Amino acid sequence: MKIAIIVAMDEDGYIGSEQMLPWRLASDMARFRSLTEGDGFNTVIMGRKTWDSLPDSFRPLPGRVNIVMSRSTDWKAEGAITALYAGRAIEVAFAEGSEECWIIGGSQIYEIFMDRATEIHVTKVHTENSGDVKFPDWDKTNWTNEVVETVEVDSDNEFRSTYSIWTKS
Ligand SMILES: NC(=O)c1ccc[n+]([C@@H]2O[C@H](COP(=O)([O-])OP(=O)(O)OC[C@H]3O[C@@H](n4cnc5c(N)ncnc54)[C@H](OP(=O)(O)O)[C@@H]3O)[C@@H](O)[C@H]2O)c1
Repeated sequence: MKIAIIVAMDEDGYIGSEQMLPWRLASDMARFRSLTEGDGFNTVIMGRKTWDSLPDSFRPLPGRVNIVMSRSTDWKAEGAITALYAGRAIEVAFAEGSEECWIIGGSQIYEIFMDRATEIHVTKVHTENSGDVKFPDWDKTNWTNEVVETVEVDSDNEFRSTYSIWTKS
């Protein structure tokens, strides 16, 4: 089972502001959906705060197994499977038959899964100082980066952005 991280961050590494995404980028949302849905059997793993930040209409994210990490044994939500630790989340994704397991944030959850991921899909949003939560620093030794595309500003995309894939060698 492939474990991949997917994130949108600004030039400073910011990913969130006041528990929300700091920008409106339709191209990034469409790519996120297409990649994480894949063949319709994929898993997404997120933190409880990121789950809380999703609009009701996107909870759970459709067509994907939704695993939410929480340290609270009491936490539950319809459409989500709770995992108390990283190994449990991976076990559940595997047991669900997922070929791809996407780590979708936020910062605390990226940190936990960084060592297990073999791909990091980054949308670099060309703006600065956008928020209050950052993507964790990571050691890029043994990682290679391939730029896939750049999307220009238009009425659906607030900032210019560049999508690239980091792969662990
Ligand atoms: N730009 C992007 O691509 C992107 C993607 C996702 C999210 N975001 C943004 O990121 C922000 C949220 O990130 P965040 O780092 O504050 O929160 P988060 O990672 O979404 O969730 C944190 C929560 O996860 C649980 N958790 C953390 N470590 C755990 C562990 N070791 N075992 C079990 N559960 C654990 C805890 O839940 P309990 O408190 O319930 O115990 C913790 O409060 C929001 O602004 C969101 O919009 C951005």
